[in-house]
Parts: sequence; structure tokens; C-alpha cells
Amino acid sequence: MHKGIAIYPGSFDPPTNGHLDLIERGAKIFEELVVAILRNSEKSPMFSVAERLEMLKELTGHRKNVRIDTFDGLMVEYAKSLDATCILRGIRAISDYEYELQMALMNRKLEPTLETVFMMPADKYSYVSSRLVREVAQAGGPVRGLVPEVVEQKLREKLDPAYKLRDARLIEVLGKRDSDKREKKRKKKA
Ligand code: PNS
Repeated sequence: MHKGIAIYPGSFDPPTNGHLDLIERGAKIFEELVVAILRNSEKSPMFSVAERLEMLKELTGHRKNVRIDTFDGLMVEYAKSLDATCILRGIRAISDYEYELQMALMNRKLEPTLETVFMMPADKYSYVSSRLVREVAQAGGPVRGLVPEVVEQKLREKLDPAYKLRDARLIEVLGKRDSDKREKKRKKKA
């Protein structure tokens, strides 16, 4: 086990099974793992920082060496403030590599003593991203298996008004179509 603190920074909007898989792997090799949620990452996130914090706390509560926190500004500055020695990041596919490489090298330029460590999540999560989960859920699609149950539930709660509105519109359209048909028949008979 690597002594010291490692940081796993990200947006986690929302946390996915891929994130959880990486946290589990990281917790096994680092003495302490701080999952750090970036504040102000997007202008209009789906989940507030407080919601993401709460979900991640619930999901990692069983791991004594995992802590959830938030940060603002430069990640390396935050890492220094915790005396962290490593940054943990996940790489799913080769497409992640370019961005992750740039970020790791920029962070190294900013703070040469901080080492970025990459880990791969289980291949069954290799296509799972928060952005795609949001997109599927916003369109009313199933996200079971892609996110933990508690996140699935929160997505449903958050998107429930949208689902209801969609259903109401559908009922309205179908109702109008039926009454138009009836009116046509009535006119034919007359
Ligand atoms: O989950 P994400 O959105 O891929 O995480 C990106 C994150 C939060 C790790 C990255 O944007 C970050 O560290 N932002 C903080 C600002 C910073 O330090 N930027 C320079 C990175 S090279």
C-alpha cells in the first residue's frame, strides 16, 4: 500500500459505477484517498455540489480510508494544501488518453512533486461517462447498471417533472388525435 494521501479529482455529475470502481481500486492501493469534487466546473450542473457530496459520502461510507471533499481553483494547490503526493485519474479508452496526458503534464509543470497515477476501471464500464448518463436519463432512458442505485433514484427524482410533462403532452396529443378521428367519422355519416 502506498503511504500518504492521493486525490481523485473530478466533476462526478453524477457519480457513475465507473467512478465507484476506480475509488474501490484506489482505496486498495493508497493509504488515504480523497475524492475531490470540483466546484464551479459547469455553469449548470445537473446535481449541486452538495448533492454530489452526499451521494459520494453514502456510496463510500464503508471505506474507512476514503474521504469526500470539494475544491475550487487549481487542483495542484488543493493537493498541496492536503500534503497529497498523488493524483488518481481513470483512463477508460484511448480517447481519454490525450486529455489526461495534457492534464497530467500541465499539473506536473505546475507542481513537479505531485505524481499522476492512472488506473483502468473494469472494462464493463469502459463506455460509461457522466455526460452520457445525463443524456440518456434526460431523454427518459434506462441507466440501471451504469450508476449506483442511489444515483439512479436521484436521477429519477430530479427528472420526474420532465417525465410527467412529457406524458401529459403525449396524452394531450393522443386525445386530440382520437377526437379528430371521431369528428371525421361523424361528418362522413352525416
Ligand atoms: O471529471 P472531470 O470533469 O474530467 O474532472 C476534471 C478536473 C476536475 C480533474 C479538472 O478540470 C481540474 O482539475 N480542474 C481544476 C482546475 C485545474 O487545476 N485546472 C488545471 C488542470 S491541468
